[in-house]
Amino acid sequence: MQWWRDAVVYQVYVRSFTDSDGDGVGDLAGVRARLGYLELLGVDALWLTPFYTSPMADHGYDVADPRDVDPVFGDLAEFDTLLAEAHAHGLKVTIDLVPHHTSTDHEWFRAARDSAPGSPERERYHFRPGRGGGPPNNWRSVFGGPAWTRLSDDEWYLHLFSPDQPDLNWTNPEVWADLEKTVRFWLDRGVDGFRIDAAHAMSKPDGLPDSPAPGVGPDPRFDDDGVHEVLRMVRAVIDHFPGRVATGQICAHDDAAFARYVRTDELHIGLTRRLLEAPFEAAAVRTAIEGSFGAVAGTPAPPSWTLSDHDTPRPVTRYGGGPAGVARARAMALVQLALPGAVFLYNGEELGLPDVDLPDDVRQDPRSRLTGHTDPGRDGCRVPLPWEGGPPGFGFTAGRPWLPIPDDWADRLVADQLEDTASTLSLYRRALELRRSHPGFAGTELEWFGAPAGCLAFRRAGSTLVCALNTGDAAVPLPPGEILLVSGPLDGDLLPPDTAAWLA
Ligand code: BGC
Ligand code: MG
Repeated sequence: MQWWRDAVVYQVYVRSFTDSDGDGVGDLAGVRARLGYLELLGVDALWLTPFYTSPMADHGYDVADPRDVDPVFGDLAEFDTLLAEAHAHGLKVTIDLVPHHTSTDHEWFRAARDSAPGSPERERYHFRPGRGGGPPNNWRSVFGGPAWTRLSDDEWYLHLFSPDQPDLNWTNPEVWADLEKTVRFWLDRGVDGFRIDAAHAMSKPDGLPDSPAPGVGPDPRFDDDGVHEVLRMVRAVIDHFPGRVATGQICAHDDAAFARYVRTDELHIGLTRRLLEAPFEAAAVRTAIEGSFGAVAGTPAPPSWTLSDHDTPRPVTRYGGGPAGVARARAMALVQLALPGAVFLYNGEELGLPDVDLPDDVRQDPRSRLTGHTDPGRDGCRVPLPWEGGPPGFGFTAGRPWLPIPDDWADRLVADQLEDTASTLSLYRRALELRRSHPGFAGTELEWFGAPAGCLAFRRAGSTLVCALNTGDAAVPLPPGEILLVSGPLDGDLLPPDTAAWLA
């Protein structure tokens, strides 16, 4: 029952998807109200971002209780209903697991803060005395600033993300036991798997050595060997529940390091950022695809593909914005959905939404706050979805959305795109339907064809689907075959720039 090997997983950023109660924040009941939409879209599974009890310093990635639902999102009964109804719609449900850190509001951290240096309460985190009046080592937080915060008693605690997200100490057996309990708790409720946040970061090297200068050696903050033991524990629990999947967010030092995360007894799927980081340039796209295959070669894992997530500017914007950005994002959607392996879509990608350039005073991402807004942060890709109607709520909320939805999204409404066969939503629906039902999508390897400069073309080996992409600036002949789908209008029988086609 390896349903996930070729699955299309749709990431629901719960806060921005649909608000059921008018408080301006998306919630679980909102997701439930849209299950019909998700079924119509044709995805196989959902990945829900964290909905656990949280003070929301990092919008839920700062978890105060991993086994309960935050009231802003609903409650456990609402979660159970959502899960049952999603299953009735034929959708699997995977959830985010955040084992690397807790919130400072977690009872463990509150106890640690109130306990003395050297106490068992502090042993669940990384507390250290400072060095020369400063932090214990030179590590930086991923969000900006030092990775250490000092308490009034002069001990410092480690946080690779924001100061509201203290890192757990994975040499402490209590920390292990608690994660095991959390994993069982949700599996018992019936979830189909997990996306493990920062799966490469849990373990820290002995002695917490300083980071070398950039480019001089491996980054000691990540990819320490000890993470594998934690992942093996999680996998061993999951293996008692047939058909469930462990996916992990992985930033490994290199391909060999990546492959270790997807060994037989670790993650089923490793998420990579290769395709997402590739510019819209055929050679770079091909390198990213080949690299993603290379990283899982010799492992049991399928490759995985993603063009967007809640941490990264949206493809339309990354590829240049405006009509060209939309055309390129549509072309890349066909490339992504032609590939064998697991595909991760991010809500709003199917609507061709761009990033929103928000004013500093509405931005909420800690990455923006902690850098004094020199880093715009990730709010631009987290603006709530425009479903129908107009401002301010656009069918997302009956109140005021937590981030403003731009007025001109009136021309990207789900309601209108469903009716318009030329819309980006219709392109995704058609592509997902073909991916599910057309026999050309068999085959788990790729064969590359020769292609003009600025273009690429591949076929699923042993099968009939051909995907051609033109990132150059002149129209080119199409490979032979019957056209199944194109991302934009053809130029006679030529494939124009910024366009992709499927042929069989
Ligand atoms: C998630 C981010 C989050 C961070 C800290 C990441 O890997 O994708 O959204 O801010 O982990 O939990
Ligand atoms: Mg709400």
